[in-house]
Amino acid sequence: MTRRTMRIAMNGVTGRMGYRQHLVRSILSLRDQGGLDLGDGDVLVPEPVLVGRRAHVLKTMAEQHGIEHWTTDLDSVLADPSVEIYFDAQVTAAREAAVKQAIAAGKHIYCEKPTGTTLEGSLELARLAEAAGIKHGVVQDKLFLPGLLKLRRLIEGGFFGRILSVRGEFGYWVHEGDWQSAQRPSWNYRAQDGGGIVVDMFPHWEYVLHELFGRVRTVQALATTHIPQRWDEQDKPYDATADDAAYGIFELEGGAVAQINSSWAVRVNRDELVEFQVDGTHGSAVAGLRECRVQHRSATPKPVWNPDLPVTESFRDQWQRVPDNAEFGNGFKAQWELFLRHVVLDEPWRWDLLAGARGMQLAELGLRSSEQGRRIEVPELSL
Ligand SMILES: NC(=O)c1ccc[n+]([C@@H]2O[C@H](COP(=O)([O-])OP(=O)(O)OC[C@H]3O[C@@H](n4cnc5c(N)ncnc54)[C@H](O)[C@@H]3O)[C@@H](O)[C@H]2O)c1
Repeated sequence: MTRRTMRIAMNGVTGRMGYRQHLVRSILSLRDQGGLDLGDGDVLVPEPVLVGRRAHVLKTMAEQHGIEHWTTDLDSVLADPSVEIYFDAQVTAAREAAVKQAIAAGKHIYCEKPTGTTLEGSLELARLAEAAGIKHGVVQDKLFLPGLLKLRRLIEGGFFGRILSVRGEFGYWVHEGDWQSAQRPSWNYRAQDGGGIVVDMFPHWEYVLHELFGRVRTVQALATTHIPQRWDEQDKPYDATADDAAYGIFELEGGAVAQINSSWAVRVNRDELVEFQVDGTHGSAVAGLRECRVQHRSATPKPVWNPDLPVTESFRDQWQRVPDNAEFGNGFKAQWELFLRHVVLDEPWRWDLLAGARGMQLAELGLRSSEQGRRIEVPELSL
């Protein structure tokens, strides 16, 4: 048995995603379980090196979790040959420059989405990474959600027949921050700081649609700012310059049509914070973060439109819960494990920086569609 340590520079670990999902639930969880089993008795133990701007926060975090190394000096960590992977979960606007620097230093790259602030920037990162011959990847966590894994299982099992449409509802009320504090960081609501729901969520919709139903061929979107003023972390009012809701229609290769509403100005009247209803000739499903319910054509009722009578049946009760039939771990951790296997064992991996650029492309074209009020073709990207 060999035990190998993999040092990973983790930048942005004081943030929401960096801390909870990537550091605690993925890398530290792997470390604490004794490492990643690579087969043949070999084990890979990840060792995080915390990188950030605020020394005291990093120091406290390192002490709390038994992490030996932390630094506020990105240059020094990138110059350290024992660090093999650079991970980035900083605010979006800071990502491109840091990732570029890490590629130049020869590190493998793994980062949050969106990979850049423009398509051009994201594509450049993908090209640089390929030219440098390093391994690279982007977080596409929604693919690993239990609800979507069950949806994928239904698709692969032929449950739907021909898939006609996908209707997605994502969002919840993000408090303005005046009389109740906001539950998301304020930069998300300032365009000049890399915020906006299109840039945040369309990269997710791109890979969800692409992987499960077909590549997005066209996009038509209306992005808007419903709440123009918000209050920041210091309780100061600011102009919300970024879009906080987007209503998008996507035509997919294979003929299905997807329509996804994304909003931080909507109150939840669903079972989960995101839900996708998929309708096919042979059956339909509603998948959320964890659950998935189905209705087969053989069990489809025959409602008749008659507003003069009260509803006589409970439509929600006519759906059947899809069983788990498997253990679902944390999705971020599952993807980390695959990335580490890709780095060490050269196992296949498709969620690379070009995939990241496709996400940014959909966001950019979605915003352009909204500005111009028209449907826009989404060309296939290549390096
Ligand atoms: N995969 C997902 O589901 C998901 C969900 C939310 C956010 N994200 C992405 O993760 C990234 C981080 O989002 P978050 O919600 O964790 O943000 P956050 O504001 O909570 O954290 C941001 C991190 O970046 C650091 N940072 C570096 N430069 C900064 C600067 N100039 N200003 C402010 N902070 C700076 C902060 O110190 C902090 O560690 C974003 O790119 C976002 O798009 C992904």
